[in-house]
Amino acid sequence: MNANLPWWKERTFYQIYPRSFQDSNGDGIGDLRGVLSRLDYLQWLGVGAVWLCPVYDSPNADMGYDIRDYEKIMEEFGSMEDFELLLSELHRRDIKLVMDLVVNHTSEEHPWFVESRSSRDSHYRDYYIWRDGRDGREPNDWASYFTPSAWTYAPATEQWYLHLFSEQQPDLNWENEEVREHVYGMMNRWLDKGVDGFRMDVISHLAKAPGLPDGGNGSGYIFCPERFSFQPRLHDYLREMRRRCFTGRDCMCVGETAFVTTETANSVVGDGQELDLLFQFELMDLDGAETKWDVRPFDLSRFRTVIDAWQKAIDWNTLFWGNHDQPRIVSRFGSTATEEERTASAKMLATALYLLRGTPFIYQGEEIGMTNAPFTEESQLRDVESLNLLKEARRTGREAWAWRGIEAKGRDHSRTPMQWDGTANAGFTSAESWIMVNPNYREINVERAKRDPDSILHYYRALIALRGRTEALLRGDFTLLLPDHPQLFAYRRSWEGQDVVVLCNFSSTPAEIPAALRGRVLLSNQGTVDGALEPYGAVVTALVSKG
Ligand code: GLC
Ligand code: CA
Repeated sequence: MNANLPWWKERTFYQIYPRSFQDSNGDGIGDLRGVLSRLDYLQWLGVGAVWLCPVYDSPNADMGYDIRDYEKIMEEFGSMEDFELLLSELHRRDIKLVMDLVVNHTSEEHPWFVESRSSRDSHYRDYYIWRDGRDGREPNDWASYFTPSAWTYAPATEQWYLHLFSEQQPDLNWENEEVREHVYGMMNRWLDKGVDGFRMDVISHLAKAPGLPDGGNGSGYIFCPERFSFQPRLHDYLREMRRRCFTGRDCMCVGETAFVTTETANSVVGDGQELDLLFQFELMDLDGAETKWDVRPFDLSRFRTVIDAWQKAIDWNTLFWGNHDQPRIVSRFGSTATEEERTASAKMLATALYLLRGTPFIYQGEEIGMTNAPFTEESQLRDVESLNLLKEARRTGREAWAWRGIEAKGRDHSRTPMQWDGTANAGFTSAESWIMVNPNYREINVERAKRDPDSILHYYRALIALRGRTEALLRGDFTLLLPDHPQLFAYRRSWEGQDVVVLCNFSSTPAEIPAALRGRVLLSNQGTVDGALEPYGAVVTALVSKG
């Protein structure tokens, strides 16, 4: 008998972005009652756990990632009663719930920051990172994710505060023990309510380099993740957090460990005393260059190298490439040239990723092959990152470049409403939606996909079920196959004499399957598999073992 895997290794996760999932009261904004009304769908799909993006009280400068009150539900999303009902209805269906934990920063409207900025003598001053300027300028040369400088000047107290994201998201000072105590208390209250764990937002940035040294050599602002990622103190905080919050509970945490590498990964997941799982972004960096906005084409051999390296580097990966910060994967690594290619490539991509060794995280709408949205005007955008990028690009005469970047990688692509059916607003809302609905919703929607047994949706459902019942796919070792093949991405998963082979054609031309890799077909996105894969074809086979 095989020992049970922990639930967070066995189950398939589904990420919900509540603002865009389902509106229940006709204000154009998704909400908790809306999520509640779709739980049967998740159950039907085979989802075992949900990661819910932030639902806390927030002024929404960064769509909920700027929290004003960690223990209150955002009014637009509903009430604490709605939340508790949602949690119990999920649990009744044996679906776990993982919350977003955003504690690198708060909203500038959080009472701690309101107090902190009010006076240098405030008890809360040290909850954030305040510094004197240098010759009337910023305390150091750090750039933020969303703004040229990571510092904003507060005239009232004549000092600067640090924000790695927008100026509405001041960074908490994790050196301050009281801050940490507050955070642990808050986490424990959510866990006591019954939530099953946390997805930890930009958790690798909690500790900053002591003394906040410059990142560059004096030639302007510089984005310098090495100054605020994987600092030694990070490990103290994560260990303390685990001790204080998770001891004796069957919960999990997955860290959004921005800038993690195959070398640093085991420092946070290696001994089980910090994080259970981590999100790494090397796959997401494949089609960027100096910045994510410098778009370059997909390259199969680099893709393969990254997957292989991560499968070897840590025992258990997270398997994801869609979330609320990423463009739609079928538009990104697949093809939307024709309806046929969209369908084939969406299924092929799911096969390539979710049968690797690790835990799948599916992002809402991915299971019906939702695509990037045809944004053409600034007024259609909602995301602070894209809007700030455009503002800055206009100043420096790079607007065309910025638009190309937004068309390929803007975060709003994944935030357009879930496409439920072919009625007005895709069945998401009866009012005008807070962000545009992708106009392709009449062709691409859940209702239509459910009726078509060959749809992407049915394929996802079959894939989730296959993974769940196949020991080799759940537990097996990973071996990369065909390392130099120009079209095929291939690997083997092996467990106790059972070999399962996954073959995916990343190209728009047919590819022959090497004879040694042909076996009994467990799943495929093509009608028959006669020794060849069609364009974007995929097949999963059980090899007859030689022993
Ligand atoms: C994470 C979130 C992203 C947010 C940022 C700041 O990367 O996923 O949406 O903007 O952190 O909280
Ligand atoms: Ca609503």
